[in-house]
Amino acid sequence: MPSFHSFRVMKKTLVLKVDPQNPEIEKIRIAADFIRKGGLVAFPTETVYGLGADALNSKAVLAVFKAKKRPLDNPPIVHVHDAKDVSRLVEEVPSEAEKLMKEFWPGPLTLIFKRSTIVPDVTVAGLDTIAIRMPRHDVALALIRESNCPISAPSANLAGKPSPTSAEHVLNDLDGRIDVILDAGSTEIGVESTVLDLTVDPPQVLRPGGMPFEALKKALGRVELNPVVTTEKALPVEKARSPGVKHKHYAPDADVVVVEGELPRVIDKINELTEFYKRRGNRVGVLCTDETERHYKANIVKSLGSRYDLASIARNLFKLLREFDLEKVDVVVAEGLPIEGLGLAVVNRLRKAAGYKIVKV
Ligand code: TXA
Ligand code: MG
Repeated sequence: MPSFHSFRVMKKTLVLKVDPQNPEIEKIRIAADFIRKGGLVAFPTETVYGLGADALNSKAVLAVFKAKKRPLDNPPIVHVHDAKDVSRLVEEVPSEAEKLMKEFWPGPLTLIFKRSTIVPDVTVAGLDTIAIRMPRHDVALALIRESNCPISAPSANLAGKPSPTSAEHVLNDLDGRIDVILDAGSTEIGVESTVLDLTVDPPQVLRPGGMPFEALKKALGRVELNPVVTTEKALPVEKARSPGVKHKHYAPDADVVVVEGELPRVIDKINELTEFYKRRGNRVGVLCTDETERHYKANIVKSLGSRYDLASIARNLFKLLREFDLEKVDVVVAEGLPIEGLGLAVVNRLRKAAGYKIVKV
């Protein structure tokens, strides 16, 4: 029996299929109407699906936190449809920001600014900074434009779960808890945007993502990785400048273990761990790559794609983690991957999904 409270929040979720390249304007307007009235709309971006609400309506933003069961101290990203919309949301636009917005927006790069006073506290979780990005997806851009407001949107998953890369993932987590899903198929990049803090000197990447660190280094010269990006163990909370870092993340129901090191030894160790878990009566999944797939004898073996194609690995990561849950796997043993390009984001998500259970060989 649902409790009175959960019964009250249940609503009928409207799923609208839209063309990713030429979104049907009448469908976008239906969704935008919900946003303007304080409702919740899940929509695709080039990275993952977001759960949107009017960023300037504190009641609507609070409803996003509730629908996702997200801790209130972890602020979402505000999405704009034009770089010009940034200025009223922030105290100032530093010159580095101008340069980055020109070069990389629309795209998978979120920038942290000092926030202006028009932004409600809940939208930034009480911080004096704000995270803003312009997504590179025609459905997202049309929705923001038609809503005529900046849209606050965390990833459209239940807190702690892998981010959704399809409307089906959103439905699995949030059906009955949100008003609308704009379904434009699978997302292109598959991991979230890179979060770059421009309020510190030099600028710092707080979360690796769809925009590779190498590209930022080339554009900025001076830029650092916050220690949380590459950490191999859970860091004390006070080190976590990015509020999201201290909460559980990307975790499927299964336990995850990552094995990192030289490939032949990784393969041996994964086979050894598979045997160990099988003997304990566990159903074991292995998350690997095309080049190594044939070496494993787990109950379920899934390949992320070729080790030489990190874009396809990023695109498949969250989908495969969710599949292991649907297939009732108890333990997932995953191969480590190179940390260049999109690999940095993939490895960061894998380590977090594992709760930093990392085996080095
Ligand atoms: O690709 C993406 O970024 C997706 C799509 C929907 O745009 N969105 C997304 O949002 O991943 P979310 O809320 O799941 O992640 C936002 C991240 C969190 O790690 C949060 O802690 C960080 O951005 N963040 C937000 N505001 C911040 C701030 N003022 N300072 C530092 N980090 C902030
Ligand atoms: Mg998220």
